[in-house]
Amino acid sequence: MCHKATAIAHSNIALIKYWGKRRSTFNIPAVGSISLTLQELFTQTKVRFDPSLKQDMLILNGKRSSHEIEDRASRFLDLIRRKSDLPFKAQVVSHNNFPTGAGLASSASAFAALALAGSKAAGKTLTKVELSQLARLGSGSAARSIYGGFVEMKTGRKLNGQDAVAVRLAKPDFWPIKLLIVITTTLGKGIGSSQGMDHSKNTSPYYSQWIKTSVNDLAEMRLAIRNKDFEKMGELAEYSCLKMHSLCFSARPALIYWNQLTIELMHYIRELRNSGLPAYFTIDAGPQVKVLTLPEYGSTLRKKLHQVPGIKEIIETGPGPDAKVVEVRQ
Ligand code: DP6
Repeated sequence: MCHKATAIAHSNIALIKYWGKRRSTFNIPAVGSISLTLQELFTQTKVRFDPSLKQDMLILNGKRSSHEIEDRASRFLDLIRRKSDLPFKAQVVSHNNFPTGAGLASSASAFAALALAGSKAAGKTLTKVELSQLARLGSGSAARSIYGGFVEMKTGRKLNGQDAVAVRLAKPDFWPIKLLIVITTTLGKGIGSSQGMDHSKNTSPYYSQWIKTSVNDLAEMRLAIRNKDFEKMGELAEYSCLKMHSLCFSARPALIYWNQLTIELMHYIRELRNSGLPAYFTIDAGPQVKVLTLPEYGSTLRKKLHQVPGIKEIIETGPGPDAKVVEVRQ
């Protein structure tokens, strides 16, 4: 007998960044974060537990994954097997609908979809809180992708991280802001987030200040979202992004995730803003620039950004939905 389920989870962009863990083994964040789940970027994952399989297999975008990626998925599946006393190995078939190898974070949608499809296929219907806990064990940002709209990830206080889960701040239709994802290069990114965070924690002299000041950033962002105060939200998002990258610059040796175009775009976005366009940037652990704007300015801004020489692609998106199961077969 096979146990199958398919789920879809959307990616998210952090407006207040998660960078640093209070416990690495369980991806328990040292700071809270606030994100927007994204409509246009998602992962669809099918999990099939099958008694005839000798080992777990991961097929990502039509290709068998490397050992390293397959091992990470397999360790995650072990957590699900342990929860549900299911002894079988699994075949996982996963698709990202967004360009891969473009340095766009896929671990958030990947582990949220795997948590949902895997647990369903194993016969478990987990609550959103349980799904968020589980997804976090795959990747910290994945805990947020269980929910649509505006989401906050809590650090929690417990040593085992049980209370380090995401909560919804507002549904997707609460505020239809736009995000333009500007691809500056299709070359893969350098140092991964987990490693980058640990390195910043261990070597940046500013790390303790980052932790201390994050509490206020979160409070201000919650308020900006509640009041639909776009300027405040954008200003805070840029601030949190630049503060996170300052930790990376002050690590030893420094982590520099940006390229020349990333920097050029930051200046250009500030210029556009000075000329009256509502546009604020945020950047994750990679060189792509994400621009926040209001819905009525999406196409004007897109045209302006396309004028910058060297831009590869621009993806326009807005608030996306909760992760959901799309098929179950026992
Ligand atoms: C810069 O969630 O990828 O995108 O928990 O180690 O898997 P792990 O890290 P990950 O880190 C995301 C870092 C970030 C900021 C954010 O999304 O909050």
